Amino acid sequence: MSFKDKVVLVTGASSGIGAATAILFAKEGADVVLVGRNETKLKKVTQDCATFGKHPLVIKADVSDDDDNRRIINDTIAKFNKLDVLVNNAGISRMGPILGGQITEQYDEIMKTNVRSVVRLTSLAAPYLIKTKGNIVNVSSVAGRAIFDQSAAYCTSKAALTHFSRASALELARHGVRVNVVSPGPVYTDILINAGIPMTFDDVNIKTALNRISNPEEIGDIILFLASDKAKGITGSDYVSDNGYLTSK
Ligand SMILES: NC(=O)c1ccc[n+]([C@@H]2O[C@H](COP(=O)([O-])OP(=O)(O)OC[C@H]3O[C@@H](n4cnc5c(N)ncnc54)[C@H](OP(=O)(O)O)[C@@H]3O)[C@@H](O)[C@H]2O)c1
Repeated sequence: MSFKDKVVLVTGASSGIGAATAILFAKEGADVVLVGRNETKLKKVTQDCATFGKHPLVIKADVSDDDDNRRIINDTIAKFNKLDVLVNNAGISRMGPILGGQITEQYDEIMKTNVRSVVRLTSLAAPYLIKTKGNIVNVSSVAGRAIFDQSAAYCTSKAALTHFSRASALELARHGVRVNVVSPGPVYTDILINAGIPMTFDDVNIKTALNRISNPEEIGDIILFLASDKAKGITGSDYVSDNGYLTSK
């Protein structure tokens, strides 16, 4: 799956699934744009991409900020003069009860990061993706289908993201642009720590049918497939990779 001469923008590329995905794209010859906030982590991913001879464009930006979203697209076009693939991966999780009094604040924070940013980046990137007949891959979650207890805002954001992706797929199909979703189950990343939960998925003892948790590269492989010409007939799909987590839900 060569991405030689392709320009690929990955949000949340400093960590976990986004980092693994960016490195896989670089390995396949893409010019990669890394978006995130943590400079130390971004530097590490930059070095990993560089081992494949690819020096990424790094954009330190907050995807929940409207101006930053415009800057992300403008800087990408200024550097590479085109965009072939947009991977909307940046996301946060928070836990808390509906009855605790904090749900509205949590909802606003999560929706701004996990959904509004994707709506805005999609609209800003679409004119460039139409020119290249490119595509978008959005990283949702099994939480868009099953409910995690005490995670109403997160689950709602992922259901909304999946639905928005379908709407984008329908509208952009007439311009030759595909839009797909990957919905992972549990994956070993920093997501719990970044949510203020000092645990790993091993501690949480989450049950999957295959009795395993994924590594970020497994999700990256699916993202690359969906972004490639091998998936030229696939749009509006929601590709679940969850070790069978949803089979018992
Ligand atoms: N891990 C799982 O089990 C799992 C399962 C299903 C779905 N997902 C989804 O996968 C995606 C990636 O998560 P992950 O598991 O890889 O977690 P992670 O290791 O915490 O990575 C999250 C990434 O999102 C970025 N990010 C968060 N808020 C941002 C903001 N406001 N502006 C810019 N970047 C922001 C982070 O960058 P900085 O830290 O540099 O800001 C980081 O690169 C998320 O959408 C998540 O919901 C994860």
